[in-house]
Amino acid sequence: MKKVIFAEFGGPEVLQLLDTEEPHAGPGEVRIAVRAAGVNPVDWRVREGQILGAHPIGLPSGVGLDAAGVVDEVGEGVGGVEVGDHVFGEGANTYAEFAVLSAWARLPEGLTFEEAAGYPSVVETALRIIRQVGVRSGQTLLVSGASGGVGSAVLQIARDRGIAVIGTAGVANQDYLRSLGAVAETYGEGWVERVRRLGRVDAALDLAGSGVIRELVELTGDPHKVISIADLGAPEHGVRFSGVAGSVPEALAEAVDLISRGKLHIPVEKSYALAEAAAAHIDSRAGHARGRRVVVV
Ligand SMILES: NC(=O)c1ccc[n+]([C@@H]2O[C@H](COP(=O)([O-])OP(=O)(O)OC[C@H]3O[C@@H](n4cnc5c(N)ncnc54)[C@H](OP(=O)(O)O)[C@@H]3O)[C@@H](O)[C@H]2O)c1
Repeated sequence: MKKVIFAEFGGPEVLQLLDTEEPHAGPGEVRIAVRAAGVNPVDWRVREGQILGAHPIGLPSGVGLDAAGVVDEVGEGVGGVEVGDHVFGEGANTYAEFAVLSAWARLPEGLTFEEAAGYPSVVETALRIIRQVGVRSGQTLLVSGASGGVGSAVLQIARDRGIAVIGTAGVANQDYLRSLGAVAETYGEGWVERVRRLGRVDAALDLAGSGVIRELVELTGDPHKVISIADLGAPEHGVRFSGVAGSVPEALAEAVDLISRGKLHIPVEKSYALAEAAAAHIDSRAGHARGRRVVVV
């Protein structure tokens, strides 16, 4: 089967599309014929050799966590899913023709494989950080970097829970933020004052890692009311860096519920062929997004 791999850490040029052995579903897993794989910033961070988790990455390595496709192998001990089912979820090495998933859910009615591949990691992250920052119905949440994958999910989940949101993004994404129910503001020169004028901020999320932790603490008045997923320097300001994933099966179940109720939709910014994985990484790394990018198989 065809699979995207890298044999050394480095720029997008280290990605290769090769013929490799097919993976197989182990106990508690399913294998899918991948139709689409989500492109997340963590994919190029790992490819660059950034140290993200407790375990070093072995080389050569595949790429990709999120995918959607058709189940074609069911591992030992797995119930409730059959060969031929359409699922989306999280696994490993998903930029490939076949991939093994460790967590999955059935595709909600009306969702395409391409759309579905964009949900798993971003919904897990969004649910986790909304919980960790402790924001409640009736309060106002400020989201720095609100139009990307994680931001798109945070804004819609917050709206569903009765939380008001102020989101920052570039000029081109202001209408997009409004369409997700947020009050939109641009980042850049003077942004703190512009946000302050909008009223009280009860909690804040840093999704862009653009060096704004001090300002977010200032706006909320409390470092415990700020969470970052993108600025490793956040703890220097007493702010929690959230980096450990919560339960993916629970997040997928919640995603299915939100999508089925018409409360969550993450648009596909752009689709790429497997052979264009390097271009997908270059575009993702540029850091300007409206929704999620996906690789289609
Ligand atoms: N720690 C974790 O568990 C975890 C989990 C998921 C993601 N992450 C990290 O979180 C970050 C966001 O992920 P994502 O998937 O949402 O990224 P993304 O889809 O690439 O979105 C990036 C967002 O940042 C905005 N942005 C760019 N420059 C900005 C600036 N100077 N100020 C404010 N906003 C700015 C972009 O808006 P415009 O396009 O309008 O400029 C866009 O909304 C990535 O660094 C990723 O690695 C961490």
